[in-house]
Amino acid sequence: MGCLPIFYQLLCLLFFCLSSQPTLSSSSFAPSATRLCSHNEAFALMKFKSSFSIKQTASWECKDTSTPSYPKTDSWKEGIDCCSWDGVTCDNITGYVIGLDLSCSWLYGVIPSKSSLFHLPHLQNLNLAHNHFNFSKMSSEFAQFTSLTQLNLTESVFAGQIPLQISHLSKLVSLDLSWNDYRTLDERTLGGLVQNLTEVRQLFLDGINMSSINPNVLMNISFSLSSLSLEDCDLQGKFPEYIFHLPNLKLLDLGHNQELNIYLPKFNQSNHLELLDLSHANLSGPLPNFIGNLVSLKHLDLSFLNLSGALLNSIGNLVSLEYLDLSFTNLSGALPNPIHNLRSLKYLSLSGAPLCPGSLNLIRNLVSLEELHLKACNISRIMLTSLGNYFSGQIPSSLTNLSQLKLLDISHNQLEGSIPNEVTTFPNLITLDLSFNFLNGTLPSSISQLVNLTLLDLSSNNLSGIVESDLFSKHQKLQLLQLSYNNLYFNSNHTSANYTLPNLQSLYLSTCNVNQFPQFLRGSKVLEGLDLSNNRIYGKIPKWMWDVGKDSLFYLNLSHNFMTELEQFPWKNIEILDLSSNLIQGDLLIPPLTTSTFLISNNNLNGEMSDLICNGRTNFMEPFLQHLQRDVNWRILI
Ligand SMILES: *[C@@H]1O[C@H](CO)[C@@H](O)[C@H](O)[C@H]1NC(C)=O
Ligand SMILES: *[C@@H]1O[C@H](CO)[C@@H](O)[C@H](O)[C@H]1NC(C)=O
Ligand SMILES: *[C@@H]1O[C@H](CO)[C@@H](O)[C@H](O)[C@H]1NC(C)=O
Ligand SMILES: *[C@@H]1O[C@H](CO)[C@@H](O)[C@H](O)[C@H]1NC(C)=O
Ligand SMILES: *[C@@H]1O[C@H](CO)[C@@H](O)[C@H](O)[C@H]1NC(C)=O
Ligand SMILES: *[C@@H]1O[C@H](CO)[C@@H](O)[C@H](O)[C@H]1NC(C)=O
Ligand SMILES: *[C@@H]1O[C@H](CO)[C@@H](O)[C@H](O)[C@H]1NC(C)=O
Ligand SMILES: *[C@@H]1O[C@H](CO)[C@@H](O)[C@H](O)[C@H]1NC(C)=O
Ligand SMILES: *[C@@H]1O[C@H](CO)[C@@H](O)[C@H](O)[C@H]1NC(C)=O
Ligand SMILES: *[C@@H]1O[C@H](CO)[C@@H](O)[C@H](O)[C@H]1NC(C)=O
Ligand SMILES: *[C@@H]1O[C@H](CO)[C@@H](O)[C@H](O)[C@H]1NC(C)=O
Ligand SMILES: *[C@@H]1O[C@H](CO)[C@@H](O)[C@H](O)[C@H]1NC(C)=O
Repeated sequence: MGCLPIFYQLLCLLFFCLSSQPTLSSSSFAPSATRLCSHNEAFALMKFKSSFSIKQTASWECKDTSTPSYPKTDSWKEGIDCCSWDGVTCDNITGYVIGLDLSCSWLYGVIPSKSSLFHLPHLQNLNLAHNHFNFSKMSSEFAQFTSLTQLNLTESVFAGQIPLQISHLSKLVSLDLSWNDYRTLDERTLGGLVQNLTEVRQLFLDGINMSSINPNVLMNISFSLSSLSLEDCDLQGKFPEYIFHLPNLKLLDLGHNQELNIYLPKFNQSNHLELLDLSHANLSGPLPNFIGNLVSLKHLDLSFLNLSGALLNSIGNLVSLEYLDLSFTNLSGALPNPIHNLRSLKYLSLSGAPLCPGSLNLIRNLVSLEELHLKACNISRIMLTSLGNYFSGQIPSSLTNLSQLKLLDISHNQLEGSIPNEVTTFPNLITLDLSFNFLNGTLPSSISQLVNLTLLDLSSNNLSGIVESDLFSKHQKLQLLQLSYNNLYFNSNHTSANYTLPNLQSLYLSTCNVNQFPQFLRGSKVLEGLDLSNNRIYGKIPKWMWDVGKDSLFYLNLSHNFMTELEQFPWKNIEILDLSSNLIQGDLLIPPLTTSTFLISNNNLNGEMSDLICNGRTNFMEPFLQHLQRDVNWRILI
């Protein structure tokens, strides 16, 4: 210690330098140098680290967030100033640990009341989001952090009751307890939060069961509030109008509270809301005109509300909108013309609403559009005609207008006529769903240019003609191909086919006149569902198919073909197997134990049925419906 510069020694004295062996980095000499953290705090952090196992799956939700996911504590080493450890922030004067951000750090284990975490009394910012605390009860010791301004425990698998003491953290500016496994939050605790947190700006309590709380306790919440997120809280009763008038409110998410009664106030232009989500709440009646006063709105979700009447022109005032979801409302009539003002719109869903776009011309100005959901919108031939005209080349520049479009869903409508070639000219399309319409004619060969497609569903139309299987040879990203229930001839007779579709998970080619197992399935390791029912496949399952989806296939439907022989069931995870209405002879082969549904009626089986078929099978049938729900496009013929 004798060699330390004088000023450093002085500082050590001043701040009770407890660090046992401070490593002198060059920065220690700079006048504004970061102070070394105390031995006690370094010890507490090391102990905290060692109380967890590191498991990548503990932070699996992080793949959906922008937060980088890696084990931050790996960089924590004794002998190195803890202020330089990843995720640790120290006060640069006192050296106290004031910030700990271990979000997405793969921590797996419990945080008991005696955790050394609570030996960091100066913490102002604590983020443990997206870890797995194995259903720990949230300790009342969290109330020890009296200096906390930010506490973030989102999606970290805490359970039990949220302790009342959390409302003592009166300096909190941001509190995020969303998406855990808490049983409940009681009214006293929420009331305490509302009263004590006078500075609070962000309050995220999504997924907490508040069924026993009167929403009125939210009255008088801090004027500073800018974000309130109470999605899926089971709130009941009337939502206090007061909240809508908070001068700084930018985000209000009340979605998925089916029994929360919401009455929209008379919004005026002094309102700064940017995100409003009222989906699946209890709000009915016409959508008031003054919704158009929310000029700062970027995200508006009113889906699954019992809204009636027309969508009014004032919607066109919302020029900042990027996300508009009006699906499954009862809004009806024509889409108002001013909708074309919404040039920032990236997401538009009118699915299941009788709100007829009339003509896609209205939509062609929505140049930022990435997703267009028009499922079951009663869209008829007129719409398709306009789609055809619109892309017929009369307005060449408009072809590139929707150049951002990634998803187009016009399924379950009354589209007639042929699929215009031009549909395939959206350069970025990755999902195209035109299923359940009355489209006729052939598949445009230009579909082969949509090389970025991951999902193509044209099933249940009147399409006809031959589909050469190499139409899809360039679709290396394809995950789902569904062409069932048309009048197509899918020509899989390409014995020399030299391409595979390595990402294909689901192939549905029922009633497509298929006469061979498609060669492009060769070598697939990810195939989960294969429906080749009601086709013309003869003989036995070729040997190369035994390797297809060996570990992944769980649904195989070969019913209504001309299969004559079964040699084995090589698929380890098969659950639904339909081989009914074939010409299968001989003894009944026993499917693997993973099978829950096995259909083999209408064949030429003989011999004795083994008892084994029923032995040890508690899983028959029950999971069947669950699996159907995994993909709504499935149709099962039993
Ligand atoms: C301490 O750090 C903060 C932010 O990192 C900085 O703004 C401030 O100037 C620093 N204070 C000293 C004394 O170095
Ligand atoms: C998580 O909880 C389960 C069930 O209580 C227990 O068996 C397991 O050991 C716990 N794991 C850790 C790392 O705490
Ligand atoms: C909580 O942390 C997560 C992960 O870092 C982040 O995505 C989320 O926005 C944070 N919540 C708040 C209210 O800042
Ligand atoms: C407010 O916080 C203080 C401590 O900071 C606590 O004593 C008091 O009980 C809290 N009030 C409520 C209503 O929770
Ligand atoms: C919420 O808690 C109440 C009891 O307070 C309970 O009856 C209800 O089932 C819970 N809701 C959910 C979705 O768990
Ligand atoms: C809200 O504040 C008003 C006026 O200060 C008061 O009368 C009322 O009781 C408060 N409501 C709640 C729920 O705290
Ligand atoms: C807008 O509404 C707020 C209440 O939400 C009110 O205080 C304000 O006076 C209104 N402004 C105008 C211009 O009407
Ligand atoms: C929805 O609100 C209406 C009043 O607007 C009420 O009559 C009805 O009972 C509420 N429904 C539910 C499920 O809470
Ligand atoms: C496919 O996507 C890639 C990147 O996502 C893009 O660079 C490429 O231009 C797209 N290809 C076509 C034909 O649109
Ligand atoms: C497609 O259907 C329309 C009527 O909807 C009909 O006029 C047309 O001839 C049909 N085209 C083909 C190729 O069947
Ligand atoms: C497949 O094509 C070859 C040559 O093109 C032909 O000889 C053969 O009969 C076809 N097989 C079937 C099953 O159609
Ligand atoms: C596949 O075969 C076709 C001709 O049959 C050829 O043009 C193409 O380059 C081949 N592709 C690969 C990946 O070998």
